Amino acid sequence: MRINSLLWNPTSALMPMWFLFQVAYCGGNIAFSFGYVLIDNGSPFFNNVEDGPSSSVTLNESSISGSFSIGSKSYATSPGKPVQKFQGGRPFSFAELSKATEKFSPACKIGQGGFGAVYKGKLSDGSIVAIKRAKKKSYDARLCNEFETEVRMLLAVDHLNLVKFIGYLEENEERILVVEYVPNGNLREHLDGVHGVTLDLGMRLDICIDVAHALTYLHMYAGNPIIHRDVKPSNILLTEKFRAKVADFGFSRMGPLEIGETHVSTQVKGTAGYLDPEYLKKFQLTEKSDVYSFGILLLEIITGRKPIDEKREAKEKITIKWAFRKFLDGKVIEILDPRIEKSDATFMVADRVAELAFQCAAPSKQERPSMKKVTEVLWGIRRDYHTLLENRNNACMETDSMSVSSLQFADTAGHGAAETTLR
Ligand SMILES: Nc1ncnc2c1ncn2[C@@H]1O[C@H](COP(=O)(O)OP(=O)(O)OP(=O)(O)O)[C@@H](O)[C@H]1O
Ligand SMILES: [Mg+2]
Repeated sequence: MRINSLLWNPTSALMPMWFLFQVAYCGGNIAFSFGYVLIDNGSPFFNNVEDGPSSSVTLNESSISGSFSIGSKSYATSPGKPVQKFQGGRPFSFAELSKATEKFSPACKIGQGGFGAVYKGKLSDGSIVAIKRAKKKSYDARLCNEFETEVRMLLAVDHLNLVKFIGYLEENEERILVVEYVPNGNLREHLDGVHGVTLDLGMRLDICIDVAHALTYLHMYAGNPIIHRDVKPSNILLTEKFRAKVADFGFSRMGPLEIGETHVSTQVKGTAGYLDPEYLKKFQLTEKSDVYSFGILLLEIITGRKPIDEKREAKEKITIKWAFRKFLDGKVIEILDPRIEKSDATFMVADRVAELAFQCAAPSKQERPSMKKVTEVLWGIRRDYHTLLENRNNACMETDSMSVSSLQFADTAGHGAAETTLR
């Protein structure tokens, strides 16, 4: 067996509990927050508590017109103009965004998530943007923290595979984010075939690599390390050319800042099915929590199956468990999305991507590779896949040219015969 059984062991004590938890809370793409988790005699207990304060941005009465501060910096505002609360990013007025979305009309709505509704909007300069409006009814300190976190994250990052931040609105009860509009739906929709296109394995590998690049950038090159915390297909948006852009930094937190610090202690946030079991158990958030979610995502991309699929029979409900069994039994080809053609090339990809996915989703963070390492492995798989395809095409062309020349020979022979007869 090429994979160390410690890397991902479905029979380990932690795993059944973990999946039970994820199943119990997987009624949708819920994002939730728990104060603490106790693991007692093998049973998880979860206690809901209020989110503690997590923002370092202070905004008081004077921010509406006057001045406000972010950390140690102060900013002046002028009455009537959108408040420039964050450094960078464009502040929008409610009137501007209302006009851009035809008064937030349902016709402009393109999605709905935990944060609120997402609209496609047209700004006065003609540019098309995505406008994320926080739910007003449930607007509370949690959303406020989430909004501020997302704005600060978006301002700090710049990468081709991350959704670009354009601006924001923070006015009375309104919290709105304006970001780059990514026109081709989200990855889950494509895996479900909603857009009428089946993603072939080459396209899927490119998407995996795009996401891996985005996460490597966040973890290693974005100034302070950033942990995404909600890596999942609905947060991966596709361009017209089927390249991926990672969205939603609403649940992000900065990674460890001090040299020597290895993790950030924080409330559990994320989406059931993609959550790192170690993070849930110990509240220790590191980049490796994203690696875990990425492993689950890899399996979803090659199988087409959600991490937890209640509709399937018991032994297939937990995708990673089912896939690992197949992998051990040497039947990894059976986990491949049935819409993908089966060949030696796709078999090779299924085998190696599955192995990588199990490594990423290892129970303990020490056993998981870094996103940089994952990216390198994916590039290797991509290269070998294209080499196999090329070899196959060359072999086909050789066979074709051989059969063409034999046809020509037959044709010439036939002509000869016909000519002979005519004469
Ligand atoms: N920048 C964007 N460009 C185009 N479509 C987007 C954009 N952002 C979001 N969407 C669409 O809106 C949908 C809802 O997004 P949102 O992030 O609010 O929720 P979600 O990702 O589905 O769930 P969750 O709240 O758990 O993150 C997305 O799935 C996507 O299809
Ligand atoms: Mg989202």
